[in-house]
Amino acid sequence: MAEKLIIQGNSKEELYQTLFPQLVSLMEDESDTIANMANISACLWETFRFWWVGFYRVVQDELVLGPFQGPLACTRIRKGRGVCGTAWERRETVIVPDVELFPGHIACSSASRSEIVVPVFNGDEVVAVLDIDSEHLATFDETDKLWLERIAALFARN
Ligand code: SME
Repeated sequence: MAEKLIIQGNSKEELYQTLFPQLVSLMEDESDTIANMANISACLWETFRFWWVGFYRVVQDELVLGPFQGPLACTRIRKGRGVCGTAWERRETVIVPDVELFPGHIACSSASRSEIVVPVFNGDEVVAVLDIDSEHLATFDETDKLWLERIAALFARN
């Protein structure tokens, strides 16, 4: 495993380009899903200093809080609820430029202003979601979607 995360690049695209191969090699060396979720949360947080980065795992009929970096978060989310439950139900990434305008948004922290949630698939099944919150409006765009979906896809073999 890499001893230290290399953070290099000026643009978001460059940062993801530097980060991605490091996450690939991190996950090649470790097959435990929880351990990988923990390190991916840490690496995304360290690279981008997002307000909150973490995973919710599908456990029976709910999402249950998994490894994360950031402040205290709500522990259980039902399918179709909030941004996380919506991404799970729709089986697609949801980008929310302003959380106040998203009906049913679950405010774990009042500092969160925008959010992206990416489903994690194992085969055809959604097994988790990757949730990232920003304290700024409209932080996330198609670049984040593309790279975070690539990162989420690394779990497919776990
Ligand atoms: N805002 C999320 C809840 C999880 S927290 O942001 C960590 C939602 O609406 O599903």
